[in-house]
Amino acid sequence: MREDRKVIELIEEKLKPIPMTAERSVVLLKPDGLQRGLLGEIITRFERKGLKLVALKMLKLSDETLSSWYEHHKDKPFFGPLKSFMSSMPVVAMLWEGIEAVKTVRKLTGTTHGREAEAGSIRGDFSMSQQLNLIHASDSVETAQKEQGLVFTEEEIFDYEHAAMPWTYSEEERGE
Ligand SMILES: Nc1ncnc2c1ncn2[C@@H]1O[C@H](COP(=O)(O)OP(=O)(O)OP(=O)(O)O)[C@@H](O)[C@H]1O
Ligand SMILES: [Mg+2]
Repeated sequence: MREDRKVIELIEEKLKPIPMTAERSVVLLKPDGLQRGLLGEIITRFERKGLKLVALKMLKLSDETLSSWYEHHKDKPFFGPLKSFMSSMPVVAMLWEGIEAVKTVRKLTGTTHGREAEAGSIRGDFSMSQQLNLIHASDSVETAQKEQGLVFTEEEIFDYEHAAMPWTYSEEERGE
């Protein structure tokens, strides 16, 4: 009988859903977002979605950092103007954590061109431009890791208990 119980427990353990791993996405408030006073609004959008803020700081991006950041755009005509724009003012860098955070943050951000971005998204609601589209958002988990390393040190990233988590994800999603 005890053996049966053990077998059942083993099967139950095997059938448990695999917990979903959290991702981190880098968001930059661009110079236009800072000048237009939209920092609070933008933080609020990610916060109320249920993402967890694990790093936040203001900094000026160097030409060297931007060359690496936008390396995939180096042959595009907007590469130079984009780097000048991004280095003209401080930016606010944030790291948002959650299950499938990269995809979710991109969805909340909206497509690149402000005038074409979906209503309800950050760019769709507040941007009228292709370049001045308020925020940057990581486009993949790999890019997010690279960008995280370009703007944050390990000490600037915080791992802490977030009180809302049990009310944000199901037990299965949390792997409990
Ligand atoms: N044709 C263009 N003319 C001027 N600026 C552009 C153009 N295309 C893109 N940009 C600027 O370069 C940034 C990077 O372009 P990308 O194609 O990676 O868009 P994105 O992934 O939606 O935006 P981001 O990388 O900033 O999150 C855009 O957010 C925008 O500020
Ligand atoms: Mg991009």
